Amino acid sequence: MYKILKKETLNKDVDLMVVHAPLVSKNALPGHFIILRVNDEGERIPLTIVDIEGENVSIIYQKLGYSTSLLGQLNEGDSIADFVGPLGKPAHIRDVKSVLGIAGGVGAAPLLPQLKEYKRRGVNVDLVIGARNKDYIILLDKYKKYCDNIYVATDDGSLGTKGFVTDVLVELYKEKKYDHTIAIGPLVMMKFVVILNKKYNIPTDVSLNPIMIDGTGMCGNCRVTIDGKTFFACIDGPDFPGEGVNFDELIARQDYYHEEEHVCNLRLVKK
Ligand code: NAD
Ligand code: FES
Repeated sequence: MYKILKKETLNKDVDLMVVHAPLVSKNALPGHFIILRVNDEGERIPLTIVDIEGENVSIIYQKLGYSTSLLGQLNEGDSIADFVGPLGKPAHIRDVKSVLGIAGGVGAAPLLPQLKEYKRRGVNVDLVIGARNKDYIILLDKYKKYCDNIYVATDDGSLGTKGFVTDVLVELYKEKKYDHTIAIGPLVMMKFVVILNKKYNIPTDVSLNPIMIDGTGMCGNCRVTIDGKTFFACIDGPDFPGEGVNFDELIARQDYYHEEEHVCNLRLVKK
């Protein structure tokens, strides 16, 4: 069992938890993820590691469905049944002088350890962070420690520029140049960031989060197509260069699962 040492509400949908998991913390690098099960019958929930302090691992989750809502019902002092990791490949930390992180919504969580590592290596680090409104901009105080400049966008204009992260990028690229970018957020955001960055010849790493079951390359559920070849996000990723990613295929599959979930919920309501 893995004890929850701390729980913090970041907004009405998103919590942060610090979990005592010494074997995970010992080997974790930026980009690694864990799979947890709330109890012995629980669904597996993959979550990118946000931070490591000693034997403790921070995770951030969005209460979207049944299992993440169940996780959200646990409190400090409670325990999680399984907490397996570190899984996946660590993010590729590039040998560059400047990097721009681009975070959309909860995507701010997996991006944090990567920007922290770039800063630790002496790289100039800027951030564009976007969310639907100011309550959904998360981890801003933590990012301030590792970023030289932070540009905020909200869909409703309640904080920073009114618009998407891509609107900020268009303006930013008029005055600044970056060697590299990392974009993490909704698939549609990563798709349009990659399209924009290609026009400016700026490479983009992205983090993909297709549905995962085993997390060890056995089930094939997390397959993604990159430059026409199949990869498994759980063992080959979750971070990949964004240029060759078939985002439309991933978006179509994600929509399919949302449709299925919707139909299942309707069936449950009708019973
Ligand atoms: P959201 O849908 O509220 O979007 C967040 C921001 O992304 C927006 O404010 C906007 O700036 C940008 N964005 C959205 N649509 C865009 C578009 N068409 N063009 C340009 N920019 C756009 O985000 P949310 O509700 O927090 O959802 C986060 C999503 O990120 C979830 O779908 C989740 O699965 C995904 N996610 C991905 C990872 C990962 O590792 N890739 C990790 C965590 C979450
Ligand atoms: Fe099963 Fe990746 S989650 S192969």
